[in-house]
Amino acid sequence: MLKNSGDYISGEAICKELGVSRAYVWKLIKALREEGYEIDAVSGRGYRLSEIPDVLSESEIKSSLSTRWMGHDIVYFSSTDSTNTQAKLLAEQGAADGTLVASDMQTGGKGRRGRTWVQKSGENISMSILLRPSFDPDRASMLTLLAAMAVRKAAEELTGMRALIKWPNDIVINGKKICGILTEMSAEQGYIHYVVTGIGINVNGATFPDDIKDTASSLFLESGSKVSRSAMMASVLKAFEEYYEGFSRFCDLSFIRDEYNAALVSMDREVCVLDPKGQYTGISRGINEAGELLVATPDGSITEVSSGEVSVRGIYGYV
Ligand code: BTN
Repeated sequence: MLKNSGDYISGEAICKELGVSRAYVWKLIKALREEGYEIDAVSGRGYRLSEIPDVLSESEIKSSLSTRWMGHDIVYFSSTDSTNTQAKLLAEQGAADGTLVASDMQTGGKGRRGRTWVQKSGENISMSILLRPSFDPDRASMLTLLAAMAVRKAAEELTGMRALIKWPNDIVINGKKICGILTEMSAEQGYIHYVVTGIGINVNGATFPDDIKDTASSLFLESGSKVSRSAMMASVLKAFEEYYEGFSRFCDLSFIRDEYNAALVSMDREVCVLDPKGQYTGISRGINEAGELLVATPDGSITEVSSGEVSVRGIYGYV
């Protein structure tokens, strides 16, 4: 009803359309302003949205979602330590399969290999999805690759740019990282209690700390347009739900292997495998159905590189 097209809508018209009192309209306007919407009020003309802000809230996320079950329970924070940590706590308290934990910002965001993940308020996506799969714990690491596929698809949908994957799960646009994924699991022999897949996306930020400014970027910086965080989250969740359901049927990545390899930034290129037992180079031949990277080495053999143990770099830098 409120648009930022320049047109004002009178308080009376809002009352009529919503069937509410003038006092109730005031309350609504106040609540919207508190959520961050900038609303002009001019006597004799009415109300007008002066700017559509990139507001993130439980209701904003809910109204954007089009999933069948993923994200139907939402726990939203304006600030928290880490959405992964919160999702794990909620999991211990019995939260439902598919619960989405999101926060406008994190004070203790966690990255892979014990690194930190810094994200400022109002610009990015920090979200974690709690899953209670029935497959074997040794399959869980593959969820990270599915999440990467989902973010890749959503990033392309919302920006129109080509988004690629740096194995196993970084999303890159124009050679720069715009998303990181951290999957954590609680399991015992043959049984998963829960998995938490945490996704951090650089959406509308324009600056990065010195140590990552050469390798990190945002959807905004690469596409030149601001992206709605709730629309991006909805698109990621929709794609992730589809991939996850496919995975639950096959229990491996055979059904998306070709799609993944077509988006793999290192495909058929020389890579450097940083194995703690010894570094070597080879040609990346894409993933197998378990999500391992196949690397053809000069002696003619193919190594299956598993993401837990080693990282892989392009020979000319980050990708
Ligand atoms: C990486 O190192 O590339 C992984 C970064 C993962 C960051 C996300 S942000 C949401 C979720 N909560 C966290 O604390 N980490 C993940």
